[in-house]
Amino acid sequence: MSKEKNSIMSWIDKRFPLTANWKAHLTEYYAPKNFNFWYYFGSLAFLVLVNQFITGIFLTMNYKPDAGLAFSSVEYIMRDVDYGWLIRYMHSTGASMFFVVVYLHMFRGMMYGSYRKPRELLWLIGMGIFFVLMSLAFTGYILPWGQMSYWGAQVIVSMFGAIPVIGDTLSHWLLGDFMLSDAALNRFFAYHVVTLPILLLVLVVVHIIALHEVGSNNPDGIEIKANRDPQTNIPVDGIPFHPYYTVKDIFGVIAFLIVFSGIIFFAPEFGGYFLEHNNFIPANTLQTPDHIAPVWYFTPYYSMLRAVTINFLGVDAKLWGVILMAASVIIFAFLPWLDRSPVKSIRYKGPIFKFALAMFVLSFVVLGFLGMKSPTPLYTLLAQIFTFIYFAFFILMPWYSKIDKTKPEPTRVKE
Ligand code: HEM
Repeated sequence: MSKEKNSIMSWIDKRFPLTANWKAHLTEYYAPKNFNFWYYFGSLAFLVLVNQFITGIFLTMNYKPDAGLAFSSVEYIMRDVDYGWLIRYMHSTGASMFFVVVYLHMFRGMMYGSYRKPRELLWLIGMGIFFVLMSLAFTGYILPWGQMSYWGAQVIVSMFGAIPVIGDTLSHWLLGDFMLSDAALNRFFAYHVVTLPILLLVLVVVHIIALHEVGSNNPDGIEIKANRDPQTNIPVDGIPFHPYYTVKDIFGVIAFLIVFSGIIFFAPEFGGYFLEHNNFIPANTLQTPDHIAPVWYFTPYYSMLRAVTINFLGVDAKLWGVILMAASVIIFAFLPWLDRSPVKSIRYKGPIFKFALAMFVLSFVVLGFLGMKSPTPLYTLLAQIFTFIYFAFFILMPWYSKIDKTKPEPTRVKE
């Protein structure tokens, strides 16, 4: 049997470098031996990506991208298609879990300085993934053509209208019409099921290639490649990815699937956070809902959009809001150059960085909460204060990361 297997493998290897790739990326790819809980989220993001692709294909088989039929085709999937409800809930829960996992994945990078040299490009590719993911979530949410799909999209599209001079033309061009209509639904469907998934997949493959070029960072933030065994040339603090981390990641997958199934089977709407109540009402172009808020993963940025209430430097408040919102996402891309600390990991960084990171997390959570609420004078004031804190984390980083009192990095990873 094993002889036959060997001859099949050698037949393949002469035509395609299967064994060579298996070794290079799994059995002889050496990852730091001290990965912890925070290192589960890369493989989990990949799992959710596969889930979204498979369930998305099945949804597309019965969904109708037509303003007159879209809403009822989703209801048809939920009620009449065999296991349609399961497929739809796996996809809608998957969308939210994608953001949970990716936010934790990014937070790990911020804690351990994974964006620092030599991983700047890896981080930038990650940012590309994040933009595509946001666009996927936005275009996907429009498809059921419920009240929130319609009015949520209306808010976003009206942001383009705030851009001086070209704003109106740009939004007409994006929509293919003078208002959000069937033409827009059709093109957003095309982006959601073809363009953006292909882009996401390509970026994820490029992300992994870049990761395997530079090697993983780790909770100590030290470069394991710098310390190799003179005889074998293998990093002394590295272990083969397979079987060690494949087994570890399978444990993460099982834990994740328990939570994922729990949500799908017991709370698929998740109290209106994963599927908003108003989206169970068909889109009505003549009736704006009382309260429009995006899905939870966009609310921190939405809060910053609404935080600007005064015209400033001759620029309209609405345009400032749009600029601030765009900046709040783009600013992550500058982290590799904003952080001037001599060490990478939070383990060896000083109290100022720890405090700044804690304040950043607090501002992200508070802004997320405020973005879900209708604005009141108090909420607007709070949104302004926390927007300030959010940006201060990034803008002051070159200064505080330099003066902070750091601990010396060890030469070997701690187990
Ligand atoms: C579809 C989304 C994504 C997938 C499938 C994905 C996948 C992965 C995988 C499998 C790893 C190696 C395992 C690990 O370190 O956890 C990784 C590492 C990494 N990813 Fe992602 N990623 C995604 C999104 C992002 C985003 C949005 C960013 C940042 C903006 C990012 C930045 C990084 C960085 C810096 C590393 C190296 C971390 C380290 O070595 O400490 N990734 N990614």
